[in-house]
Amino acid sequence: MSTIDFTGRVAIVTGSGAGLGRCHALELAKRGAKVVVNDLGGTRDGTGSDDSAANKVVEEIKAAGGEAVPNYDNVATIAGGENIVKTAIDAFGKVDILINNAGILRDKSFTKMEEENWDGVMAVHLRGAYCVTRPAFANMRENGYGRIVMTTSGAGLFGNFGQSNYAAAKMGLIGLTNVLKLEGGKYNVKTNVLAPVAASRLTEDVLPPEFFEKMKPDFVTPVVLYMCSEQCEDSGMIINAALGYFSRSAIVTGPGAILSDGKKIPTPEEVMENWAKITSIENPQYFNQLPEMFGVLGPVLQ
Ligand code: NAI
Repeated sequence: MSTIDFTGRVAIVTGSGAGLGRCHALELAKRGAKVVVNDLGGTRDGTGSDDSAANKVVEEIKAAGGEAVPNYDNVATIAGGENIVKTAIDAFGKVDILINNAGILRDKSFTKMEEENWDGVMAVHLRGAYCVTRPAFANMRENGYGRIVMTTSGAGLFGNFGQSNYAAAKMGLIGLTNVLKLEGGKYNVKTNVLAPVAASRLTEDVLPPEFFEKMKPDFVTPVVLYMCSEQCEDSGMIINAALGYFSRSAIVTGPGAILSDGKKIPTPEEVMENWAKITSIENPQYFNQLPEMFGVLGPVLQ
């Protein structure tokens, strides 16, 4: 079994002043990566800022013999994203690894979900991933190497009451990944997705206390390190991780029903009659990209 080693690699971990990001940054540095510890240092709902969050983690990394620099930019702005990547290039010459991890929560049931809470959460999670990934991806493409990890959530993959803003933003990252896995393909830039569950300030009032005690971020970080490694050849994977449990979630498609010969338009009643067949996900297929889905239309297209 080969060892996972990041000597000579440069990593950016957004929101790594605390929680999961801090753990990813510490472990990457322990295995030789030079790390940009980005953190705005705001509150759980994204207000305020405090440089000490990033500074503390940089100190921890240095105390353990690793290399790191802090960055305090907001991931949700173009200037912030560019400056985070510039921090890596100025300090260490390039970007090999990007973990989009920064996150906030503003939970409300949907009818109470005011614009500012919708936009605020979208900005950090989805726009933030865009703002940081775009300049990082450009550098990776130039270097012919990159590993990107997006952080989604079970709230988006499966649904969670009161988190419409967060769930929508987190699923946006899956769409972004589906495209980046294709566009990064020939440049050896792989993009994968983490769906974690771990104790942090985001989950202290969500997880039952007995779960919170046990669910250390350390249990999640190993799969992130693997997805950031040279050894990981996959792209577009969505991996659930909690307490040493790891599994893949995927968007798959059922066999469906063909209700036409390619000429006759089906009626709504035919759709109703065939609803069970249309919605069955028995023997599902995975499509790696949109054109593959057209394959199922073969019989009708002839
Ligand atoms: P956390 O609150 O401990 O860490 C998030 C960090 O991001 C904080 O240090 C915060 O200051 C930073 N941050 C927030 N907005 C920022 C911005 N605009 N720019 C730069 N930094 C910013 O929370 P946790 O749990 O470690 O979350 C990490 C990621 O994992 C988030 O994306 C979260 O949505 C996701 N996640 C966490 C789960 C869990 O069970 N803890 C479950 C599913 C997803």
